[in-house]
Amino acid sequence: MKVTKAIIPAAGLGTRVLPASKAVPKEMLNIVDKPAIQYLVEECAKAGITDILIITNRGKGVIEDHFDYSFELEENLKKNPAKADIYNEVHAVADMANIYYVRQKETKGLGHAILAAEAFVGNEPFAILYGDDVIISENRPVIGQLIDAYEKYGKCVTGIKECPREQVMKYCTLDVTALDDSTYSVHKIIEKPTEDEIISNFAILGRNVMTPDVFQIIKDTPPNPKSGEVYFSEAISTLAENGKLIGVDFDGKRYDMGDKLGIMQANCELALKHPEIGEGFKEYLKELVKTI
Ligand code: UTP
Repeated sequence: MKVTKAIIPAAGLGTRVLPASKAVPKEMLNIVDKPAIQYLVEECAKAGITDILIITNRGKGVIEDHFDYSFELEENLKKNPAKADIYNEVHAVADMANIYYVRQKETKGLGHAILAAEAFVGNEPFAILYGDDVIISENRPVIGQLIDAYEKYGKCVTGIKECPREQVMKYCTLDVTALDDSTYSVHKIIEKPTEDEIISNFAILGRNVMTPDVFQIIKDTPPNPKSGEVYFSEAISTLAENGKLIGVDFDGKRYDMGDKLGIMQANCELALKHPEIGEGFKEYLKELVKTI
């Protein structure tokens, strides 16, 4: 069955990027001239996804407004022929996909947030894009690369990448065997491993394609006794242990918009590639580095 639905959980508290995320969800924080979540919606649209559910709990109005027509603004831009390009760009944002919203009523972890999408997903495979993980690919969008693997192997798919050991210790380590150049069977996941526990430098990052049976696995996952949160990583771990998980070593650069340094890296690197300000920004950076 074709993957045409995606969910974007965007209901976290974003405590690592406070106070920026106090009134604005971190998923709406800016990268050059677009909020992070727009990059995700563009990635979905390019991969053939037509319906996207955004899971929110605050700042819902801002996200809804962003993906809607903005009558007054657009009428104003239309009057000025010099602003035709920006009018087209602003107008097109609302037409990229059918976007729906649901609230996660309590912030009880990513697994709990994903459960709010059960009715939307129905009986179809679906994509999950973590709202604060922007992944830029020059070629096939990363979620499309995962969909290709789902279509080839018919199993749940998660995005993986080799990371420096310090990062592996912060995320997770995976026991894998290769299926082809970029695709692996994932047998086991150890969360936040110690140095001695590291099995490989592969960690799970930001993108998944799941089948609807994952909802039952999440329901069977007890909340973490310390935090009270339901971790989606535990459900993914269960899939791995049951031989139902594929990892795709995706081609793309990931930026963590839930982290202050990640936000600056995203802005810097995407500003350098930006058609309008790229050259000017490069000159500015060259002068700046001379002073540090
Ligand atoms: P994170 O763990 O990075 O988000 O979740 P967080 O809890 O906001 O992070 P802190 O507070 O800075 O540590 C990854 C994604 O899952 C969503 C987040 O919005 C983010 O896009 N999420 C997380 C939810 O939708 N609901 C939750 O209960 C937790």
